[in-house]
Amino acid sequence: KKQEAWSARFNEPMSELVKRYTASVFFDKRLAEFDIQGSLAHATMLAEAGVIAASDLQAIQNGMSQILDEIKAGQFTWQLDLEDVHLNIERRLTELVGDAGKRLHTGRSRNDQVATDIRLFLRHEVDRIQGLLKALIQALVTVAERNHDTVMPGFTHLQVAQPVTFGHHLLAYAEMFERDLERMQDCRKRINRLPLGAAALAGTTFPINRNRTAELLGFDAPTRNSLDSVSDRDFAIEFCSASSILMMHVSRLSEELIIWMSQRYAFIDLPDRFCTGSSIMPQKKNPDVPELARGKTGRVYGHLMGLLTLMKGQPLAYNKDNQEDKEPLFDTVDTVVDTLTIFAEMVEGIQVKADNMRAATLEGYATATDLADALVKRGMPFRDAHEAVARAVRYCDTQQCGLEALSVAQLQEALKLTELGYSDDLVNQELCAVLTLEGSLQARNHVGGTNPVQVKTAAAETRKRLGL
Ligand code: ARG
Repeated sequence: KKQEAWSARFNEPMSELVKRYTASVFFDKRLAEFDIQGSLAHATMLAEAGVIAASDLQAIQNGMSQILDEIKAGQFTWQLDLEDVHLNIERRLTELVGDAGKRLHTGRSRNDQVATDIRLFLRHEVDRIQGLLKALIQALVTVAERNHDTVMPGFTHLQVAQPVTFGHHLLAYAEMFERDLERMQDCRKRINRLPLGAAALAGTTFPINRNRTAELLGFDAPTRNSLDSVSDRDFAIEFCSASSILMMHVSRLSEELIIWMSQRYAFIDLPDRFCTGSSIMPQKKNPDVPELARGKTGRVYGHLMGLLTLMKGQPLAYNKDNQEDKEPLFDTVDTVVDTLTIFAEMVEGIQVKADNMRAATLEGYATATDLADALVKRGMPFRDAHEAVARAVRYCDTQQCGLEALSVAQLQEALKLTELGYSDDLVNQELCAVLTLEGSLQARNHVGGTNPVQVKTAAAETRKRLGL
């Protein structure tokens, strides 16, 4: 007979539409493995506390083991009539082992059960995501090491600013993803608490041992308040928030990859397997993967807003609204997992067009600040140096050449130091040397700088910190 678990209370069966509307089994069956884990720990604790018999526990363990096999083999029949993953599994257990199955739900409610399941699920996924973040950081570090002295223009306002190394640029992203890793680690602390024992909302009359259940499931401790236990979804929101920030970083990297791969920049190429062509334009090779990642960032932000909005009006304790937490959470996990997996592989495959990067750096007077700094070191106040170099840039504009192309005499003419009350003698061969790209990079030799040696050190330190 297919009856609701609560049918004894009702005078008529549920409407078919309401069944479909309220059922969650088609998405929450994804929690099955964790639901079984939670049930086994609960049953073990109940048996140890003498609430159920040892023989009941044995039967529950046998039944659950078969159910897990059935689910893994795709042979489990999920029934919409049984509403959710919890009732589906419990019903099958009772089919298999009889009364012992009916005893499983003693001292428990689906409210604390589902809260436990999501925490177990999310803990598992957060650990996987941490591994994927490390893989992506490793890929960035690897390409950074290969390019520790590859010159590229550093930009502000998307205008050429100062020379940097491509390695330094990539390590900026490694820093962002390392902070994302820390956020995931931090969020895991608050995920890893056991709500089981809160039952529906007010706890239970049975002599349960929540510390024991927590221990069995690898939770750090039981939650401290039963009402909070069944209604708290902060941990999921926190995860979506950390995921949103992570995806924001992915999206920024994507934007740069797309720009760099455009013909106008031609700084990099991406392996064919991460690109697609056009059905009409035969020549096309499009960076679809970074474009999609940029797009998918939007849906992850959306899920964060969705969950915040889901919670904002709920009175204590559990409300059915909470069933709506799963799809956004699952989709966030899937999007982040897939994106990180692809990016680790794609980043590793970035093909660098070093000549184009160098040429672009030479085009934008990227060493103008170095020239101003050098004049300051020769005794000029910075504002005067800034003015003189600005004139030199204008001079180069009319001559259509770069600062590094100027001879000593030309540089004297360009800077017009005498007009500012300084001697042209300040301009010599040594000053001209400051204008080379290599000179500029070498000079920035401090912690956090773009000097190739610093880049190598930073890469090595990142490896060491993360055990890569
Ligand atoms: N499917 C429900 C959820 O996801 C499980 C808890 C249902 N509890 C209840 N009292 N209806 O939240």
